[in-house]
Amino acid sequence: MEAATTGGFRTLRDLEEAGRRRCSPAVWAFVQGGAGEERALERNRTAFGHHTVRPHVLTGVDRVDLSTRLLGQSVNAPFFASPTAYQGLLHPDGELATARAAASAGVLAAFSTLSSHPLEEIARAGGPAGGRWFQLYVQPDFAETQRLVQRAETAGFKALVLTADVPVLGVRDRQAEGGIALDFVVPVGNGPNIQTPVRQPERSGSYFTFGSASSTWALVDGLRVVTRLPIGVMGILRAVYALKAVEHGAAAVVVSNHGGRQLDAAPATIDVLSSVVHAVGARCEVYLDGGVRRADDVLIALSLGARAVGLGRPVLWALSAGGEAGVARLFSLLSTELAIDMALVGRRRISDIDATLLGP
Ligand SMILES: Cc1cc2nc3c(=O)[nH]c(=O)nc-3n(C[C@H](O)[C@H](O)[C@H](O)COP(=O)(O)O)c2cc1C
Repeated sequence: MEAATTGGFRTLRDLEEAGRRRCSPAVWAFVQGGAGEERALERNRTAFGHHTVRPHVLTGVDRVDLSTRLLGQSVNAPFFASPTAYQGLLHPDGELATARAAASAGVLAAFSTLSSHPLEEIARAGGPAGGRWFQLYVQPDFAETQRLVQRAETAGFKALVLTADVPVLGVRDRQAEGGIALDFVVPVGNGPNIQTPVRQPERSGSYFTFGSASSTWALVDGLRVVTRLPIGVMGILRAVYALKAVEHGAAAVVVSNHGGRQLDAAPATIDVLSSVVHAVGARCEVYLDGGVRRADDVLIALSLGARAVGLGRPVLWALSAGGEAGVARLFSLLSTELAIDMALVGRRRISDIDATLLGP
């Protein structure tokens, strides 16, 4: 990234614009697109505007601390990189750049099963101190799933995040029209055996069959047998399934609608967060992603009980804009903005951000 532009990114929107300019229209449609008419995508974003935060004042905020613990790991910020596939499409260094920037910033990053680089190289790039989670797309053959999980554990990933909202890929109009062709084969860094989720069902009479969409909650039990890593379940939009995740031994749930890429009728994630938080209480950690673009969004989500929030597209914009330097800039922008916000609401520590902040 040119020095002249590095300091020019004041907001994530600036990074988005810079990322767009450096990206092919087909890859951009893949990144930006959502399901169907993109109502869920839009809803994620606009819903934050329906929440307000009321400051505490004169509380002494000369020093604010953004550090927190996510599944037992100390990090410097209550946000993380959500898992996104094929980061190599945005920058040749792809996940390696994300891992380096995250480790240097002390920010946690989750990496997709469908990474462009092998998970072992991602782990090496981030170094031993980097906080890393491995996102699992379950494979048709459980032995293959198990191998993948063991590779992640051996490479030093600290948690497994099972994506539960992709029995099949959603219908993505923008991607189908202008994006990577549906049959485009993107190399998967984790090896040629790794299967991507099914996009098109097979039809036979009134039946449609979806290859590997047979997973049930028994899968979580099965995973617990083959790994000691804590398990998070991602793609939860109902309290009852957050409770189910706890019952099956999950240590965390991620309230997520896959960035509005799966079901277009899905609610905004911020609108369902409190129901999940109230249901699980202290029994597991609750995270959220979808539409987080400003420190205000982080503040709202944390006030509603999220432990931290994930950033999906912003990391891809930053990668496109400037590789590792771009992602570093993203984390530093958001951290600075959040520190200012914490001072403005009279809160010195992340653990002090609570429901008392919520406005009318
Ligand atoms: C281009 C793209 C690829 C994604 N790939 C994955 C993936 O491989 N696995 C996964 O669990 N989620 C994936 N997601 C969903 C993200 O983890 C996250 O839930 C979502 O991007 C959050 O919304 P945001 O983009 O508005 O921040 C992807 C999202 C995008 C935009």
